Amino acid sequence: MLQKTLVLLKPCTVQRSLIGEIISIFERKGLRIAGLKMMQLDDAILAEHYAHLVDRPFFPGLKQSMMATPVVALAVEGVDAIEVVRQMAGPTNGRKALPGTIRGDYSMSGQQNIVHASDGPETAAVELKRFFKDEEIFEYSLPTLRSLYATDEV
Ligand code: TYD
Repeated sequence: MLQKTLVLLKPCTVQRSLIGEIISIFERKGLRIAGLKMMQLDDAILAEHYAHLVDRPFFPGLKQSMMATPVVALAVEGVDAIEVVRQMAGPTNGRKALPGTIRGDYSMSGQQNIVHASDGPETAAVELKRFFKDEEIFEYSLPTLRSLYATDEV
């Protein structure tokens, strides 16, 4: 099923000048960039975004790291994109993530781990709404579509 998912390029990625390199990984895979913007996060949006972690001891440090610079938010589309992008990101801790995954290739940390990626269909819907207005998501189609998928896949 054609899905959209939210990716955030975290401040560590911005600070390490890896914005272009990480976006390229998604493009090279065959995913379509449906939305793209830079934004400064604040307490309110992070309390919402990481609501499942507010009681964890690392939450203040996590929040601070996510506000260190603007982030780059991406709406990424493809068949089964939510799972595909999670697999591409790899497990949370970059030291445990396998080489070949984004975190495995670019991160040594459980916090400074390059990307956020929505973890399921419900989360993706809520998170895309949190970071993008409807008119900031674009429905153009890639001319390479027929080379990316079999006709019965999309
Ligand atoms: P989580 O939603 O568990 O992981 P993921 O980003 O892989 O979906 O955690 C959100 C972020 O919180 C994670 O990317 C980095 C930070 N974090 C820490 O800083 N320390 C930790 O021990 C954990 C579990 C997460």
